[in-house]
Amino acid sequence: MGKDIDNNVVLKVNNISKNFGPTKALSNVSMEFFRGEIRGLIGENGSGKSTLCNILTGQHKADTGDMYLLDKLYKPENNAIARDLGVSMIVQEMGTIDGLTVSENIFLAKEDIFKTNGLINKKKMNEAGEKILRELGIDDIKATMLIEELNFEQRKLIEIVRAIYSNPDILIVDETSTALSQKGRKLLYDIIDNLKENNKTVIFISHDLDEVFQVCDTVSILRDGIHIKTTSIKEITEDQMRRLMVGRDIEGGYYRSSFEPSDLGILALECNNLYTRHLKNIDLQLKWGEVLGIAGLTDSGMRELGQAIFGLINIVHGSVSVFNKLGENKRVIRNTQQAIDNKIGYVSKNRDKEALMLLSSIKENIVLPSLDFLKTGIYVSPKKERKMADKYSKQMEVVMQNTDQLAIHLSGGNKQKVVLAKWLANKSEILVLDCPTRGIDVGVKSSIYSMISEWKKEGKAIIMISEELPEIIGMSDRVLVFKNGEINKEFIRSTEMTEHALIQYMI
Ligand SMILES: Nc1ncnc2c1ncn2[C@@H]1O[C@H](COP(=O)(O)OP(=O)(O)OP(=O)(O)O)[C@@H](O)[C@H]1O
Ligand SMILES: [Mg+2]
Repeated sequence: MGKDIDNNVVLKVNNISKNFGPTKALSNVSMEFFRGEIRGLIGENGSGKSTLCNILTGQHKADTGDMYLLDKLYKPENNAIARDLGVSMIVQEMGTIDGLTVSENIFLAKEDIFKTNGLINKKKMNEAGEKILRELGIDDIKATMLIEELNFEQRKLIEIVRAIYSNPDILIVDETSTALSQKGRKLLYDIIDNLKENNKTVIFISHDLDEVFQVCDTVSILRDGIHIKTTSIKEITEDQMRRLMVGRDIEGGYYRSSFEPSDLGILALECNNLYTRHLKNIDLQLKWGEVLGIAGLTDSGMRELGQAIFGLINIVHGSVSVFNKLGENKRVIRNTQQAIDNKIGYVSKNRDKEALMLLSSIKENIVLPSLDFLKTGIYVSPKKERKMADKYSKQMEVVMQNTDQLAIHLSGGNKQKVVLAKWLANKSEILVLDCPTRGIDVGVKSSIYSMISEWKKEGKAIIMISEELPEIIGMSDRVLVFKNGEINKEFIRSTEMTEHALIQYMI
């Protein structure tokens, strides 16, 4: 080997295969990565993208095949070793560790450099952490903070900092941008540009094809664990990409085409003078059959709105109430149990922590909120449980072996489908969806949008919280723009509800 490698090839993978039990995650994948290249890696949920990158960083071992870094045989034993050899990754799900500080997370497995006389010098570590945070322009996070004090987006930034700190030759970014705030995204893109300028390599996984076109020079397409094609971004269209990913043509037409608002009258849910830690004086009314979009920057409080409605955070003042289909029988929601009992379903942006029990099976996750109506007498019927789990995982097209598989072993997008399946199974009437299509591939994304439209037709009430303005505009009857914990502006569906108009009230 070795000698015939092109000078610009940094990494070469040869005939990599990986099975998880009966699942063929990767079949004979061969690829070369070049210096100064930003390589997109795309494919449907479960097509093997994360698995490939986990093998590149020593998290998993390939069953067959080998890898060469420069022209040396490359067999990283684990993440830390890969990082030392120059291959760093920002993982798809939460990669920070609770109970540690920000700087301890940044310097994970690198603590030794701060050792004096056998002890880790925390002060030195914190100073180094502070320095690197400031250099990257992250001014709202302190090195000494506990990681739990940070919100989801901020934690993701810390992972980026950790990956960059080791000065990687190859940086792998696994479906990270949708987990970031706008500001975080800008930082990530700047980092990527900077790496390219320094002739480093970036492997960039995203389901957002517009983003792939903007960021990448080349793109590799995986389908069912098979490497279908690698090409320059200039030589492929978005439609061709989709077709190669899915293996067939897929319908466009994601969103509602009409800009007419629906005629809605009957009250489903109301927030009355609501105050939480971040929210101030929120008065809002959601009607049956309405899709209410909530737009804003990450720290606008929009995320807390979903959590408050589902009873996950402390309400300081005011209330959340729900009504029956006639707009009567007002009930106040004070906690999650009451929310579930009153048919509220909640999809959290932080799916690993708030939406799924990772170490339970897919089945247990799906049936959890529905246990009451699966009971025969006082016992839950295993047969009914299985039937329910099978039905809704099938409806959501979850790629899995069977519903006994643990949730933690699902690919990112398939986890999201399980979360949706569970509220579907529970026949939730009010759905609070925080970034419902995060990490979902193009095909499933359109089926989620048509599902939301279907729910609307059935008269369900939907709150959709999202940073993705096109989906907010594409789906909502009405949009509330949040800023600094308050409602800053209301838009009723019309052609004036544009990205530009919304942004003006977000910032
Ligand atoms: N630890 C594991 N145990 C069992 N199966 C696994 C494990 N990790 C991945 N898989 C399976 O391997 C296949 C490929 O998963 P992978 O996570 O690589 O997909 P992906 O392309 O990253 O998808 P997504 O876009 O949803 O993140 C999936 O069918 C997944 O369920
Ligand atoms: Mg993945």
